Amino acid sequence: MAIILDGNKLSQQIRSELKLELENLIGHQKPPKLSVILVGDDAASSVYVRNKEKACNDVGILTETFRMPSDSNQKEILAQVNTLNNDLNVDGILVQLPLPSHVDEIEVINTIDPSKDVDGIHPFNLGQLVQGSPIFVPCTPLGIQQILLRNDIETRGKRVVICGRSNIVGKPVASLLSQRGVGADATVTICHSRTDNLPNITSNADILIAAIGQANFIDGNMVKPGSTVIDVGINRMDDPTKKRGYRLVGDVDYESVIEKVYAITPVPGGVGPMTITMLLNNTLKSWMKSNHLPGNVA
Ligand SMILES: NC(=O)c1ccc[n+]([C@@H]2O[C@H](COP(=O)([O-])OP(=O)(O)OC[C@H]3O[C@@H](n4cnc5c(N)ncnc54)[C@H](OP(=O)(O)O)[C@@H]3O)[C@@H](O)[C@H]2O)c1
Repeated sequence: MAIILDGNKLSQQIRSELKLELENLIGHQKPPKLSVILVGDDAASSVYVRNKEKACNDVGILTETFRMPSDSNQKEILAQVNTLNNDLNVDGILVQLPLPSHVDEIEVINTIDPSKDVDGIHPFNLGQLVQGSPIFVPCTPLGIQQILLRNDIETRGKRVVICGRSNIVGKPVASLLSQRGVGADATVTICHSRTDNLPNITSNADILIAAIGQANFIDGNMVKPGSTVIDVGINRMDDPTKKRGYRLVGDVDYESVIEKVYAITPVPGGVGPMTITMLLNNTLKSWMKSNHLPGNVA
């Protein structure tokens, strides 16, 4: 039976560490603060933002959310980002994605001050990551690396296959794990919807990372016996037995894979909570940097 890589438990542990770090460092400075911009009323985004607010409160990070109507125009959203860029009390800015389709998402991301880009998605921070001198690493990739590191799953010299090439997961996690150093040094392959013979590639992976967005796509025939599987996917599946009418499943067919692999992240309760925890990590890091405080964060 596989080891279940419990993201909730690990998150609690890291959040306690972050809380302690903050309590030890805080003197007369203002506390760290994360500002979130939420445009529109997408139900899933609202839940994510509420979870982020709660997580901030738990570790002592101040948080505020600017809720903007779904018909907000580009100029209004950029103005809100710029207000936060110029606010000395704000250490981290998070624009909850996706933005409504009429908004130029790239322009919004590029407007965030890179020194407050705790989501790590501004081209400056992505460039730093690719260069091998990361400052803010995108939260999901950083969370995945922490899961591997803190469960003693070796990446050095291992074959890592990533399904998905998004800017927030696939591409940055490939950069992160192929860097030199601890928790990296992997040989990385990125796959996507145009990849030929995907099962042939995934079944050779020592570590398989699924970030596709298709429920139960990766089955037992696509994984290597004894490998580690990281399931990033969050998909809603109709389930009349649930009060809300659906349940969340990953990109990996958990039941068909679990007997075959060494370790696997569950959905929910795997990568999801770690993504939020790394947002806290990055916000604390930004606060430490602006206050010239030494610290021990990822
Ligand atoms: N747990 C978390 O904290 C967290 C964070 C972020 C995202 N997610 C979830 O992770 C999933 C992926 O999200 P994302 O934003 O990274 O990706 P995305 O932007 O939705 O893109 C999906 C990627 O999967 C690839 N893909 C689609 N079908 C495929 C197939 N049949 N075979 C191989 N590759 C295929 C696409 O290839 P092309 O580029 O060729 O189209 C694309 O690169 C979603 O379920 C999302 O909700 C979870």
